[in-house]
Amino acid sequence: MPAPSECPRLKPICSYLDSLTGRMDMVVLEQVLRENPITIDDVEKACAFNEERYQRNKVAFSDWYDLLVICWRPGQGTAIHDHTESSCGFKILKGTASEIVYERSSDADPDSLLVRPVRKRAYAAGEICLAQDQDIHRIINESSSNDLVTLHIYSPPLHMKFYEVDPSLNAPGSVSTNTELGRLLSGRR
Ligand SMILES: [Fe+2]
Repeated sequence: MPAPSECPRLKPICSYLDSLTGRMDMVVLEQVLRENPITIDDVEKACAFNEERYQRNKVAFSDWYDLLVICWRPGQGTAIHDHTESSCGFKILKGTASEIVYERSSDADPDSLLVRPVRKRAYAAGEICLAQDQDIHRIINESSSNDLVTLHIYSPPLHMKFYEVDPSLNAPGSVSTNTELGRLLSGRR
């Protein structure tokens, strides 16, 4: 883990986060990400890639937050996950992040981990993606040639649950197809 001193432009964010004694409000979390003019050059020492899967690089943490720089090679992405009891947000520092948002496929079983995709959005450099509690999504670097680097705040540190696309959406006779919003996706985690 790089010391925050190796990324001096992150010090104001770290100082604020170290003062937390409880969960961050989402409005404040967005404000912290938006108002701190962090660039890809400011987190260079924290950037490490993994050719097999996206790489989470922790910069600072406490009982009430994790601050991470996440590095994504082309095609790398998360599993489908929620944000149980955490406020979460990230800023795109380089590249483009695609977010696919899901809903539970049935309200009948509250314990079901089956979901269906409902919308998709691309976030360019400088934009901020937010999620909390029961928000379910996955993040992917869909570029075929460009890396993605993102700066994440989780408050408190995230203990996510994982989900799967409801296989009945692909059952014979269903009107659904075996793609998600037009793109065939593997089960990468
Ligand atoms: Fe997430």
